[in-house]
Amino acid sequence: MNVTIFSSEHELNEAAAQLIAGLVIAKPDAVLGLATGSTPIGIYRELRRAYERNIVSFRRVRTFNLDEYVGLGENHPQSYRHYMNEHLFRHVDVPPENIHIPDGTAADLAEECRRYDRLLDQAGPIDLQLLGIGHNGHIGFNEPNGELASRTHVTELNAQTRNANARFFQTMDEVPTHAITMGVGDILKAKTVVLVAKGADKADILCRALTGPITTDCPASLLQTHPHLIVLADAEAGRLLR
Ligand code: F6R
Repeated sequence: MNVTIFSSEHELNEAAAQLIAGLVIAKPDAVLGLATGSTPIGIYRELRRAYERNIVSFRRVRTFNLDEYVGLGENHPQSYRHYMNEHLFRHVDVPPENIHIPDGTAADLAEECRRYDRLLDQAGPIDLQLLGIGHNGHIGFNEPNGELASRTHVTELNAQTRNANARFFQTMDEVPTHAITMGVGDILKAKTVVLVAKGADKADILCRALTGPITTDCPASLLQTHPHLIVLADAEAGRLLR
């Protein structure tokens, strides 16, 4: 495990974007595992800048997003497909056919999960998986549980996650109850995992995930078993790791 704590969020964003862009420069057809949420927004901004300055092209990159809300389609402003279009995809040259995000509006969600895993198997392993961490230790939408699913599946979002994500919706009733998420096995198969944490509210869970017991009660703790885990934290989130 390689942990770096940055004194500013900007430095963290730059370092994460450099890791991703550096990989794509070295391996133009890299498979990227991407995350949504607040954490990667500044990283995607730096990647757009690198693209605009002709430092990197995404023309041959293939992308797989971790998760998508059940019931929210591309045109819903809170769908992760919409998020990715707004923060990255529509600004860079990644071909639409190389972009993969679970379809939360699929009529047959179980088949959609199987389809996603088939695509992952064909393209994978993921070269670099970008991750945020939930306050309850979730990665993707793998919530703390007695057991964790290895592969892509439909999951029920727990109250803490729905409350945390309510800030993006008008009312609590609009916050989706379910999501499709890649499983923990899918995540751990990535060659490199880059876990990013920002803000004081992530300090406790980040410390627990990286230094506490490996347990399904804290799905991010399973990352301790990954042979190539890179952790990038700002000073607030990394406070307890010093
Ligand atoms: C998003 C995802 C989630 C988030 C986590 C942290 O695709 O898979 O695990 O990374 O909920 O969210 P933020 O970054 O909003 O604190």
